[in-house]
Amino acid sequence: MPTLEQIRRQYPSLATGFAYLENAGGSQVPRIVADNLRHYMLHTYVQLGAGYELSQRAGQPVEQAHAFINLMMNGQEQGEVAFGASTSTLVRMLADCYAEILQPGDEIVVAEIGHEANVGPWVRLEKQGAKIVWWRVNPTDASVSLEELESLINERTRIVAFPHVSNLLGEILDVKAIAAMAHRVGARVVVDGVAYAPHRAIDVADWDVDWYVFSTYKVYGPHMGALYGKREAFLELTGPNHYFIPRDSIPYKFELGSSNYESCAGLVGLSHYIKFLADRDADEPLDRRAIVDAFELMQQLEHPLQSRLIEYLLSKPQVRIIGPAHAGDSRVGTISFVHKNKRPSEIVAEVDKHPIGIRHGHMYAHRLCLALGISDPEEGVVRVSFVHYNSLEEIERLIEVLNRAI
Ligand SMILES: Cc1ncc(COP(=O)(O)O)c(C=O)c1O
Repeated sequence: MPTLEQIRRQYPSLATGFAYLENAGGSQVPRIVADNLRHYMLHTYVQLGAGYELSQRAGQPVEQAHAFINLMMNGQEQGEVAFGASTSTLVRMLADCYAEILQPGDEIVVAEIGHEANVGPWVRLEKQGAKIVWWRVNPTDASVSLEELESLINERTRIVAFPHVSNLLGEILDVKAIAAMAHRVGARVVVDGVAYAPHRAIDVADWDVDWYVFSTYKVYGPHMGALYGKREAFLELTGPNHYFIPRDSIPYKFELGSSNYESCAGLVGLSHYIKFLADRDADEPLDRRAIVDAFELMQQLEHPLQSRLIEYLLSKPQVRIIGPAHAGDSRVGTISFVHKNKRPSEIVAEVDKHPIGIRHGHMYAHRLCLALGISDPEEGVVRVSFVHYNSLEEIERLIEVLNRAI
């Protein structure tokens, strides 16, 4: 397996010495992703689907990217991946499609801890007669209860929308258990995997989810969103694409205006980076085992950083960690906190004076902040988010600055 140093060398941006600790906002890209994208634009930038050889060749990375992301999510033959501009766009599109088939009185369970991307599009359906049922957060410790969720799901439930990991709290929810609960009454789950996908291997087949969405720009790739859907779930909806696109044209019926070709080429580069992490030969075909190995390495590398930062924050009595106050496998390296006497903006302003990137705010988990009693969501929380390429040295540098700031 590659060392951290070898990994960091794949990212030109990391060589500047700037500590990127705002990865939940967006990750850096390895060189091969940018190189592939650039090469595509300079050499194969034509429209797809024509008969000439170049047009045929230009289509290959687009197909390969769909296949790669389906493998990365372990969609197998059960489902397909549609690309779109972003997670927010894809979920909004999905909700608009469901609007056409929901009946008045149908219920949609929505998690209060969600990023607005997987909240607002469902809440809008209230106007069309859907009933929104809130899966609330416990304001004391920012936890959610599966027992409570079970009590909210009934024969009228059609959709259960929730994040795999909240982008503020960092805790991993039991997707498999939630999907099983929803399926007992024939409801579909729509899982926002954006805050999970940069850290662990996705396995939609094992979890048996209907819809799972993430943003590729937070998973070391270019700006795009990827939506996995079970074939049967895709088939029950009319896609947003033009009327003459057949109903069984999956995923194209969901790719209004088609996908971003050069970003697809970038994603093919990402598949090579995954092989590099998993210690596989560059010309070996990528398989599921390599994906799992790569993400296990990421998890291992992240672990000591979690432990160190949480240990530090726990040593400060004025600090309250928002989310689980422990390191470990049940959380990712997205750690938020508030301070008794200092505003988040004051703390972050101190850090901003150094070559370290963190941020404060509600991070579009606006309703979660309000539910937790954070009276000014614009102030929100201080959030530090790291991934496998970050180093302990960067966390130590941050701690040194935080120590002065708080
Ligand atoms: C958990 C979560 N969901 C959804 C989104 C929205 O993603 P996009 O920018 O691709 O719309 C974000 C972005 O920060 C996020 O963190």
